[in-house]
Amino acid sequence: MFLFWEPLRWEFAATFTVVCVFAAGPLKRCEAFYYTKNQRLAELFGYHQSMFSYRHAFHAGNHADVLKHITLLATLRHLMQKEAGITLIDTHAGAGLYRLDGDYSQKGAEAEDGLFKLLSALEKVQDMPEPIQDYLEQIASFNPNGQAKVYPGSPFLMHKLMRHESRDRLRLFELHPTDSKSLASNIAQLDAGRTITVSREDGFEALKKLLPPPASATGSKRAMVLIDPSYEIKSDYAKVANVIQEYLKRFSTGTYLVWYPIIPRPEAHDLPRRLRTLSNQAQKPWLNATLAIGRGPNDVGGLVASGMFVINPPFTLKDQIRKALDVVGPALARGTGKSWQVESS
Ligand SMILES: C[S@@+](CC[C@H](N)C(=O)[O-])C[C@H]1O[C@@H](n2cnc3c(N)ncnc32)[C@H](O)[C@@H]1O
Repeated sequence: MFLFWEPLRWEFAATFTVVCVFAAGPLKRCEAFYYTKNQRLAELFGYHQSMFSYRHAFHAGNHADVLKHITLLATLRHLMQKEAGITLIDTHAGAGLYRLDGDYSQKGAEAEDGLFKLLSALEKVQDMPEPIQDYLEQIASFNPNGQAKVYPGSPFLMHKLMRHESRDRLRLFELHPTDSKSLASNIAQLDAGRTITVSREDGFEALKKLLPPPASATGSKRAMVLIDPSYEIKSDYAKVANVIQEYLKRFSTGTYLVWYPIIPRPEAHDLPRRLRTLSNQAQKPWLNATLAIGRGPNDVGGLVASGMFVINPPFTLKDQIRKALDVVGPALARGTGKSWQVESS
């Protein structure tokens, strides 16, 4: 009996392995597979179930968005002073537009400790730093009725500053099935044609096709890349450092903006240090802005601090973000652990 069974068992194992290897490709593309309850199987094929549980709608307008979007706009404003066209890339774009009065946003109420708190604190501020003013004006332009009900994510903020005459281009990547559909339909309303593209692709991988960017009409190659993962997958930290290392070689003059959470996790702690080392090794200037709102009395956990690391920042950025944080920091501070600072090379 054993002699009969044993070869069959091996034949079955071999056939099963061959089927698995051939099925891996289609499975990776299969949406149902992403949602499999068997997380270990998903990880085996390179994906992680939790990756698709992150929805930026729960977090839109929070303190991290305030820091990220103020830095993004101030960087863009400077880059747009040069006439030559620029390629803008958002590797982790999200849905593009978010309702601040919708169910998602109301559930976490994160904008209460971010945008809304800033808005009410600013009523008492006399001299509003330019980057904050710019940020609030952009948000106001999406809310013609006065109340902040719609929050523009990074794709829409970038679109706002794009110039038709310079032929700027915007390349957006979002993997979440629902958010990529929302992003595509939100962007379609802009009627921007081929100047803006939305792809449901891995943003890290997509950079390979886009950098170095095509030359502008004046012959210069210019690009700004925002890398804003949700970091729900531990490997995102290493991926960020790896792409920065690679593209500082392949396109060293690009401006790279990396958002990262400040949380008690070794990978998170190491990321800004690695980015600093990589920039120094490539002899490229960098800037690191951080904002920690601290723990409040009714705090139920959640993210309290984050940073923006910018490689090849505009020379004006340090001064601008410092002035902005001098207002944003005290406005959003809640308690123990509050801090804000800007350091640079
Ligand atoms: C923090 S949110 C982006 C927010 C957006 N950049 C903004 O500022 O408005 C991160 C997004 O990345 C998406 N995502 C996660 N991994 C991805 C990947 N490898 N490539 C592209 N998108 C990814 C998530 O679905 C999520 O919508």
